[in-house]
Amino acid sequence: MKAIEIRNKYLDFFKRHGHSVIPSAPLIPENDPSVLFTTAGMQPLVPYLLGEKHPEGTRLTDYQKCVRTNDIEEVGDNRHLTYFEMLGNWSLGDYFKEESICMSFEFLTKELRIPVERLSVTCFAGDRDCPKDAISAEVWKKVGIPEDRIYFYGKDDNWWIAGEEGPCGPDTEMFYDTGKPACGVNCQPSCDCGKYVEIWNNVFMEYFKDKNGYSKLAKKNVDTGLGLERMTMLLQGKETPFDTELFRPVMEKLEQLQKVDYIESRRIVAEHLRSSMMIISDGGRPSNIDRGYVLRRLIRRMIRHLNKLQINLEELSTLMDMNVDNLKEMYPDLEKNRERIKNVILEEKDKFVKTLTHGEKEFEKEMKKRQEIGSKKIEGETVFRLYDTYGFPPEVTKELAKEHGYEVDLRQFNELFKKHQEKSRLGSEQKFKGGLAEQTEETIAYHTATHLLNSALKQIIGKDAHQRGSNITVDRMRFDFNCDHKLTEQEKKAVEDLVNQWIQEGLEVTKQEMSKKDAIQSGAECMFIEKYPDIVTVYSIGEVSKELCGGPHVKNTKELGTFKIKKEESSSSGIRRIKAVLIK
Ligand code: ALA
Repeated sequence: MKAIEIRNKYLDFFKRHGHSVIPSAPLIPENDPSVLFTTAGMQPLVPYLLGEKHPEGTRLTDYQKCVRTNDIEEVGDNRHLTYFEMLGNWSLGDYFKEESICMSFEFLTKELRIPVERLSVTCFAGDRDCPKDAISAEVWKKVGIPEDRIYFYGKDDNWWIAGEEGPCGPDTEMFYDTGKPACGVNCQPSCDCGKYVEIWNNVFMEYFKDKNGYSKLAKKNVDTGLGLERMTMLLQGKETPFDTELFRPVMEKLEQLQKVDYIESRRIVAEHLRSSMMIISDGGRPSNIDRGYVLRRLIRRMIRHLNKLQINLEELSTLMDMNVDNLKEMYPDLEKNRERIKNVILEEKDKFVKTLTHGEKEFEKEMKKRQEIGSKKIEGETVFRLYDTYGFPPEVTKELAKEHGYEVDLRQFNELFKKHQEKSRLGSEQKFKGGLAEQTEETIAYHTATHLLNSALKQIIGKDAHQRGSNITVDRMRFDFNCDHKLTEQEKKAVEDLVNQWIQEGLEVTKQEMSKKDAIQSGAECMFIEKYPDIVTVYSIGEVSKELCGGPHVKNTKELGTFKIKKEESSSSGIRRIKAVLIK
């Protein structure tokens, strides 16, 4: 079965079981600066898991594009991916454990025809925060999983939360037995030997965790996630996702083009190519911070491995086309954005090639210094400086050094690199910790101010000044919009004054549900119309603003304080960026 067939079967199955099929949210979370990328199907649904009413009802299903980058360095082995697709179904206070498990079992055994003998399951063992999940285990027994294939584990294995705070709960996980020999008498789903592969996770989300500990949510929800690439690989009897049709065409092309044979490098190129193209398709741009930096790393790592395979970088264009052609049925946006994506990657490639050339010059300087003192050693610090300042990859330094008969202290480099990595990892985790549920008074106020600014720009600058992006933290808002010129002082002041006038008028913020068609006809603003479901929520602010949006917002604009533009600058060609604050 091909991946797209599994996806369609899944969505059809849950549709037949009363679920509304909702669209995948973009990989780059809208209005949520607390996470770098969408990492799970539940992420865009957090407000609804916390109790807000979803316009599509209480049973939802979708496929969600996801990127997880904690393990970039692991890609190249037989299983790690940075981009993956998660199939999911949700109950928002509707069904709970029994129905959820029965549906999963039916889907696996009847739709995917996985023999029951291949399945093992795990349930939560219980601790002082939450009792043992005997109910799930009972249901599993009832549907036909023998008791000796039902395992109980603690929070490390059978508890799910995104980050540190937010909705969470015990989960039950389903494992596929690959038929490989057991690694020992104690071989079981929790072990890492490869016999058992986790295929589906059903989270019974009835808790909320914050700094003070656990509390109960108003409703009992179900959140599930099934990794499409993994399921495809297992059903096709393949050893790795790279052997499935999702990667085969690109992998084969790489085999043809390579002058030296490195399987890890081929996997890295194929994986990072797919991942970076998906990120750019959803609006990502390489840069030196946050998600832009992750994207830059993906592209650069891909190029280094093309170099390692000794493949001419001119081939990149062909490889990108192959990837689009291969995946466009699953992701029509790739086709729509083909040229833009290619341009971004080719531009980044040119920059990186320059970096490499620049780094080589610096390397030569370093060699000269050593010739003068008769040393044949390159310290880890130098390798790190070349890497950190010029982006010059350590493996290239090592290779060049070897060619010239120098010794490299990679041990010291690795120590420095580890420290650096820990720092950046802490950075990203911190962001994640910031919380999916981070909807503070401040961010909610900025969210409403964003709508006002969007309207004010249309009145002052022109009706074509559409929103192109937005980013909110507790301290400030950032807003990108189309505009062909730098705003004059008068324009900035007029925009600021108009927003403040609306704030002072104490306009009420109201919310309405309607069909997408009616919303558009009524003139509501919307950034990515195709990303919204058929029934949408529209927020209006007095008579001055009307936008499709998930919320939340303040009730009245007088809660906002004073609006002040801090900065107006170019973001990219034809796009201006405003940074602004609310002063209370
Ligand atoms: N949110 C759960 C996961 O990502 C389903 O595993």
